[in-house]
Amino acid sequence: MTETQPELPLFPPSAEFAASANATAAMYDEADADRLAFWATQANRLSWNTPFTEVLDWSGAPFAKWFGGGKLNVAFNCVDRHVLAGHGDRVAIHWEGEPVGDARSLTYAELKDEVCRAANVLTDLGVTAGDRVAIYMPMVPEAVVAMLACARVGALHSVVFAGYSSTALRARIEDAEAKMVITTDGQFRRGAAVPLKTGVDEALEGLDPDANTVEHVLVVRRTGMDTPMTAGRDLWWDEAMSTVSNEHTPQAFDSEHPLFLLYTSGTTGKPKGVVHSSAGFLTQAAYTHYYVFDLKPETDVYWCTADIGWVTGHTYIVYGPLANGATQVLYEGTPASPDEHRHFQVIDKYGVTIYYTAPTVIRTFMRWGRELVREHDLSSLRLLGSVGEPINPEAWRWYRHVMGQDNTPIVDTWWQTETGAAMIAPLPGVTHCKPGSAMRALPGISAKIVDDDGNELAPSPDFGEHTTGYLVLDKPWPAMLRGIWGDPDRFVETYWSRFAEQGWYFAGDGARYGSDGEIWVLGRIDDVMNVSGHRISTAEVESALVGHAGVAEAAVVGATDATTGQAICAFVILKEHAKELGRDDMVHELRAEVAREISPIAKPREIHVVPELPKTRSGKIMRRLLRDVAEGRPLGDTSALLDASVFEAIRAAK
Ligand code: PRX
Repeated sequence: MTETQPELPLFPPSAEFAASANATAAMYDEADADRLAFWATQANRLSWNTPFTEVLDWSGAPFAKWFGGGKLNVAFNCVDRHVLAGHGDRVAIHWEGEPVGDARSLTYAELKDEVCRAANVLTDLGVTAGDRVAIYMPMVPEAVVAMLACARVGALHSVVFAGYSSTALRARIEDAEAKMVITTDGQFRRGAAVPLKTGVDEALEGLDPDANTVEHVLVVRRTGMDTPMTAGRDLWWDEAMSTVSNEHTPQAFDSEHPLFLLYTSGTTGKPKGVVHSSAGFLTQAAYTHYYVFDLKPETDVYWCTADIGWVTGHTYIVYGPLANGATQVLYEGTPASPDEHRHFQVIDKYGVTIYYTAPTVIRTFMRWGRELVREHDLSSLRLLGSVGEPINPEAWRWYRHVMGQDNTPIVDTWWQTETGAAMIAPLPGVTHCKPGSAMRALPGISAKIVDDDGNELAPSPDFGEHTTGYLVLDKPWPAMLRGIWGDPDRFVETYWSRFAEQGWYFAGDGARYGSDGEIWVLGRIDDVMNVSGHRISTAEVESALVGHAGVAEAAVVGATDATTGQAICAFVILKEHAKELGRDDMVHELRAEVAREISPIAKPREIHVVPELPKTRSGKIMRRLLRDVAEGRPLGDTSALLDASVFEAIRAAK
């Protein structure tokens, strides 16, 4: 069945915006004419200790080498060079704590002092280039300082979202063989101080002593709560920082020196440690941040509402904005803390000009209503951004109408942990946008939508099976992941095997071309869910559920949800003994188990206790059919199903 797309009105940039935009239409032509020369120009926006001699070496595909022969220091590029250029007094970070009134601003000169001190602390504690440091922290300035200090000494940080459980932290410490963990005593969550450092203790206690590579735990005082410290291993951040110099000479590292690891969910239960490089990553982070957000470093106040635990926080809070000398807001809490006015108050307080958030946040604002938003002065906003999941056209229009005064450009940025930086997005001031479409690949980037055999699809005004295909990236790009930590085979298999013959990267997303050839990303077509912009694998949640003594089997699917994009729906078969416990108690217990094993963000919205699961003759669970059930749709093709009657039993149990 096909559905015709209504003729959508285009949203052209205002003449005023276009007149002073950083981006120009000529950038597409320039990049098309000589892609590598284009990237060389972008790389030269950075400060190099040794200039690169080769832009790209793709001879070892899919393992890329960008900017070969060059050397630089990422932290120097994000901090020192702005101070040297005379911008030491510019605010780098306006930090807004969750408790109202708890705020602090750091200039670039102050940030430089802190990063230098922290680099000296790391060095004194034996951290050297190539070591891994786990960072398990809320959104405090010290988290940014810790990341930059790692970059400065060439250690790879592995930031673990502070909402993850100690079990999830342990798995990431173990896989990366981290030498150090940096954390805080506790964190503020919806008005309450809750411990965090004890989560690190639990993670480390559960490690096999032979697998415990952690020598030190550095603890930032955030809440002042009583915190047990292990003598010889644990140190207070403020004490360590007070005894070292604020001078530190950065060492230059090769372009390809790994900058960080970031674990993300894949189609199996084991998270993947995505590896990013130094120069290629920083080049594309800085380039995209400058052009896609139209950054004017002297006058803009930029705010990205992501958490540093996700890639958006890495690229568009830490590396991109700081490489460009931006002034930004860093906010510790959630949008509804202490009430629904908070984000709007922060925009007003700092005069935020560029605001970058996720569709789930916008849909939450829509639920709260425009009257609430209109109580605040948002006239400083001049550009809005969206990331993390497809933005529905209705949310796009609301965002522009209610928050953007019917005037601001909206940049819907498609990218992934693996791509490192934005890939498909409008260029503000240039692109005529269609609400809900990320439009086209950025200059220097190449993306295609293809069918099973790799044939490119044609532009089409219709929604339908024949117009939907696979989103692939058919040319290497500077910020591309360089591998999966410790598992090169998994890297090749996961991303490069689907279109191995053509040598393309398969992103895991489905997409279609619109009538003008613009790209509409439709979401994941593998077993990865997207809940409020957070990537969670079905296998990870299933493995947490079957880890419970009462569960015999579990199947998890992502079902469409009006606010969170997708919601987690689980179907479980209980073991005999567990059936004695009341169903509600069991469901409660299982949700808690998932929170303990992974994170509260992975708690299923629904858990259905069922007598059977739909399987193929070869024993594979048919998730597609479970998704139909979860979304209340008539069942799709059931011909492969071993026993069609299971659905009556499942529906009866639901
Ligand atoms: O499905 C796409 C969706 O988020 C996935 C990547 O998730 P993650 O690695 O956690 O990175 C999120 C932040 C970059 C993609 O495979 N996605 C991200 N941005 C968009 C999107 N889907 C549609 N439109 C977007 N703008």
